[in-house]
Amino acid sequence: MFTKTSPIGVIDSGIGGFSVARRLQKLLPYEDILYFGDGANTPYGNHTGGEILTMTRYMLRFMEEKQVKALLVACNTISCLIDQYRDDMSCPVFSVVQAGADAVRERGLDKVGVISTCFTANSRCYPELIGKSSPRTRVYSQGCPDLANTVERCVGHPESQEQIDAVIRKEVGELVAQEPLDYCVLGCTHYPLVEEDILRLFPGLTLIDPAEQMAKSTQAYLAEKGLANDPGHEGRLDIFTTGSVEEYTAKARKVGLDPVTSVRFYPPAQG
Ligand code: DGL
Repeated sequence: MFTKTSPIGVIDSGIGGFSVARRLQKLLPYEDILYFGDGANTPYGNHTGGEILTMTRYMLRFMEEKQVKALLVACNTISCLIDQYRDDMSCPVFSVVQAGADAVRERGLDKVGVISTCFTANSRCYPELIGKSSPRTRVYSQGCPDLANTVERCVGHPESQEQIDAVIRKEVGELVAQEPLDYCVLGCTHYPLVEEDILRLFPGLTLIDPAEQMAKSTQAYLAEKGLANDPGHEGRLDIFTTGSVEEYTAKARKVGLDPVTSVRFYPPAQG
């Protein structure tokens, strides 16, 4: 059973969820965070729904064993399937896609673009959730086949900047070619990690990072349930990855996570 001193769990296929963890650290510096990145299997967006569910359940079991007090699904691809695994957890499960839809509602927009993995775009979960809370907002979706994986591999490697720029130019370019847009949701948690690059190449876009809303919703939930940790506590960030501990350590620091208490290897799911 979880208590107010239990950690908050954050899961992603890779390092994308760092964009959520860093917002949590800013807003809730007294909370412990347990991060799981399935580096051995990233990117999820190119897998089938069934495969994504199997890989997700592996991370959920880990988080359930650690008795987290809230689980933040800091992966849009996984969040699209939330109805199929929400009940696997005994704590509340937060979807980053819902956070993105909430952030759009707060802005009251006529139209908005959403860039995401192809899986997220094909699932139509952004248009559906935005449609529920902002029925007058037109949504233009763009699946980006390469951007998440490029970010995963290239962040922290300055020699790869040209490669990042080329993918952003092509894939975000396809969104703005559909329709002139002022606002764009970063519908994959990897994208806020290259937010400055996107803005440099598309300065006319205002970017919406759902992580901000997700951190606020977590704060509200903890306050409402009396589950917020003692404000005097110095929050930990313990990272587990099925990928490279060295890469995760370097990238966590590079994207501004602080503190990074530990980075450990966790064996990937078999078969
Ligand atoms: N970070 C994940 C997301 O938000 C995507 C990366 C992947 O496809 O694995 O959708």
